[in-house]
Amino acid sequence: MPTDDGGRATAASILSGESNSRVTLRGWVARKHTVGGLIFALVRDGSGYVQVSFKKGGSDPRLFEAAKELTLETAITLSGEVRDDPRAPGGKEVAAHALEVVAPAESWPITKTAAKSASYIFDKRHLSIRGPKAVATMRIRTEVIGAAFDYFRSRGYHLISAPTFVQAAVEGGSTLFAVDYFGKKAYLSQSAQFYEEASLPALEKVWIFQPAFRAEKSKTPKHLTEFWMIESEQAFADQQDNLRVQEELLSSMVARVIRNRSADLKTLGRTLIQPDLPFARISYDRAREVAAEKGHAFEWGEDIPTEAERAVSLTQKAPFFITDYPLTARSFYHMTYPDRPDVTKSADLIAPEGIGELATGGQRINDHAQLMERIRSQDLPADSFSWYLELRRFGMPPHSGFGIGVERTTRWIAGLRHIRSASLFPRTLSRISP
Ligand code: 4AD
Ligand code: MG
Repeated sequence: MPTDDGGRATAASILSGESNSRVTLRGWVARKHTVGGLIFALVRDGSGYVQVSFKKGGSDPRLFEAAKELTLETAITLSGEVRDDPRAPGGKEVAAHALEVVAPAESWPITKTAAKSASYIFDKRHLSIRGPKAVATMRIRTEVIGAAFDYFRSRGYHLISAPTFVQAAVEGGSTLFAVDYFGKKAYLSQSAQFYEEASLPALEKVWIFQPAFRAEKSKTPKHLTEFWMIESEQAFADQQDNLRVQEELLSSMVARVIRNRSADLKTLGRTLIQPDLPFARISYDRAREVAAEKGHAFEWGEDIPTEAERAVSLTQKAPFFITDYPLTARSFYHMTYPDRPDVTKSADLIAPEGIGELATGGQRINDHAQLMERIRSQDLPADSFSWYLELRRFGMPPHSGFGIGVERTTRWIAGLRHIRSASLFPRTLSRISP
C-alpha cells in the first residue's frame, strides 16, 4: 500500500492499492449519509475522495455514535479495512474501526440553496474552495503550470524572476495600477517582458511565471485585475519560431491534463480533446472578414473587439492563431514587416468554443534607431524606456516571445464559464476579499 510521508494512506493510494489491507487515513468529512444501520462518509484529503463506512452494532458501539455526530468539514483521523465495493466511488470503501476527531466544524454555511448565488460563493471563497469543482479546477491548474515547468526545462530555457514594482508601461498606460513608492510614482507590473528581453544576451532563452496586474475597468468573464502569466522570450528567434513554442506549450498542457486529470475533467463535465499540431494560422485580415460575415464588422486597425473575436473563435474546433495585427492595435515595441510598415509580426493564440485570447506574442524591434523612432512617433515618454532602449545599443539580436495567461488557459482547459473560478482567490473590478 503506497502511503504518504507520515506512513498514512491517502484517498488516492487507497483507491489504487490492495483490498483487505488495514489503513490509517486523515482528511475532512465532505459528505455524509445514513442508510439503516450504516453511516457513509465521503472523506476528502489532498489526493481525492474515499468512502468510509461505520456499522452499527460493531465491537465498539461508541464508533457508530461518534460517526453520527460528525459534521461536514470536520477534520478526522480514522483506521479501517479497505474492501472492494462496486457501489462506492472508485470501487473501494474503508470499513472504519477507529475514529478520532482532530478538529470539529460548525454547521457548514454553504448549503445547496446558498450555493445558488455566485456572489455568496465567492464571498465565502475561503470555504467554498473545498467544493469538488473548485478542487478539480485547482488540480487541473497545477498540471497546466507543471507542464510549463517541464516544457521549458526540457528545452533549456532558464527560469527568471523580475520585479513587481516598475516604472514603465509594457502594455499601455490605461491599465496601470499606480502605487506610491517613497514619494515617487511606481506601478505594478503588467508584464515581465522587458526584463526577459534584458536577460537574453545573458541567458538566450528564458521564461518566467509570476503575477501580472491590470487595472481592468471591464467586468467580463475573462478579466482579472491580478493574474498569473507565463512568459517566454528567445534570442535569434523570429515570429515563426515563436508560434511553434506557443503551440507546443499549450499542446503539452492539454496532454498532461488529459493524462493526469481525467477524473477532474469529468467532475467538471468537460470533454477536452488533444489538438493537432500545427495549430491553424488565420490572418487578422481574414479574421476580420469572418467576423463581418457573422455580423461583427469592425474597422481595419482596431484591436479585434471581444464579440468579433468570439465569433471567429466559434468557427474553430481547436486552438488557433490570429496573426499579423495592425500596428495601431499593438504595443509600441512590435516589429513590422519591411514591405507592410503598418502590420506587425505578432499573433494572438485563440481558444475555440467562443473563449478567445489565451496568449499574445510577437517579434520585437531589436534596432535602436527604429525603436527610438517608434517611441517618438507614438509620443511615449522616452525616459521611462531608457534602459529598454539602451539594450539595443549592445548586441540585441532579433528576438521574439509571448505571454500566456494561466487563468485564461485553465478556464478553457477546464471548461469554466468565468475566469474567476480558475483563481483560488480572484481579484476583479469588484472583488478584493477574501
Ligand atoms: O496580451 P497581453 O497584454 O500581452 C503582454 O502582456 C505581452 N507583454 C506578453 C509578452 O509578449 N511577453 O497579456 C498576455 C496574456 C493574455 O493573452 C491573457 O491570457 C493574459 O495575459 N491576460 C489576462 N488574464 C486575465 N485577466 C486580464 N486582465 C488579463 N490581461 C492579460
Ligand atoms: Mg493580448
